[in-house]
Amino acid sequence: MPFQRNCRVIEVNQIANGLFSLVFDCSDIAGSTKAGQFVHISCGDGLLLRRPISVCDLDGSLVRIIFQVKGSGTSWLSERKQGEVIDVLGPLGKGFALDGSRLLLVGGGIGVPPLLMAARQASEQGKKVNALLGFADADKVILLPEFASACDWVEVSTENGSLGKHGYVTDLLISRLEANQNICDLILSCGPQAMLSRVAHIAKEHHMPCQVSLEQRMGCGIGACLVCSCGIKSPGGEGKSFARVCADGPVFSSREVIWDET
Ligand SMILES: Cc1cc2nc3c(=O)[nH]c(=O)nc-3n(C[C@H](O)[C@H](O)[C@H](O)COP(=O)(O)OP(=O)(O)OC[C@H]3O[C@@H](n4cnc5c(N)ncnc54)[C@H](O)[C@@H]3O)c2cc1C
Ligand code: FES
Repeated sequence: MPFQRNCRVIEVNQIANGLFSLVFDCSDIAGSTKAGQFVHISCGDGLLLRRPISVCDLDGSLVRIIFQVKGSGTSWLSERKQGEVIDVLGPLGKGFALDGSRLLLVGGGIGVPPLLMAARQASEQGKKVNALLGFADADKVILLPEFASACDWVEVSTENGSLGKHGYVTDLLISRLEANQNICDLILSCGPQAMLSRVAHIAKEHHMPCQVSLEQRMGCGIGACLVCSCGIKSPGGEGKSFARVCADGPVFSSREVIWDET
């Protein structure tokens, strides 16, 4: 059940170029959030809608989110100060199902933060967790120490070669699966749409179950307005139906998504 709470901001830090970490205090949200779920934050006074941001990490009653400044909402959020109060609705959506015993996390850019919570929850359950993380540039790299503490190994790529392997994170995925098909029994992925589509294709070629977290513009965030609808395959794989990314997702099996329509 989601809660709407006025939450005290504990800290806001810039952690990379254009990227901010914000920690707020809310025992109700912290106590009920699963990896892959998001919160919907009222960003500013007046006309602005809420903005969806994934939960990255939990520590007791503290909830950490990481966001990239894109427009007016995330810019307002980045200017919050310690002690201020923000209006947060959450947790929302369906998160990752941590099935399997060997998880491979594949994250790209601002899709990396929700995978940290998946890594922590899976490793607390005794699962083996590894991560492939891709960024555009070294100045956008985030959360490496946190992933290192939750995973057996972490491999990084940057598109310009400024840190880690030069190229896309999907290149790392292909290399790892081709070197050892048994490296994992489930892939969890979050990142830009083009990356997710490629990850889904690679997973299918290797007969590997894969869950992806999709992004859509959102209105209500609770399944009522249909702003976030996307086409998915009907059960059984034939025909098409619609899903609400906010309520039926944001996490879907990669096999259900109709990739050329997302
Ligand atoms: C389930 C979910 C989880 C998310 N988690 C995170 C997160 O952990 N960290 C993070 O930085 N961002 C996350 N986002 C994206 C974030 O919600 C948007 O960047 C934010 O709403 C932009 O608001 P704004 O007012 O700053 O920008 P706006 O002025 O509203 O938009 C600025 C630009 O961003 C694009 N944009 C806005 N919203 C979205 C969206 N939902 N998807 C794709 N493009 C968008 C617009 O098309 C425009 O080009 C998530 C989105 C969803 C749906
Ligand atoms: S945002 Fe309203 S139904 Fe999803």
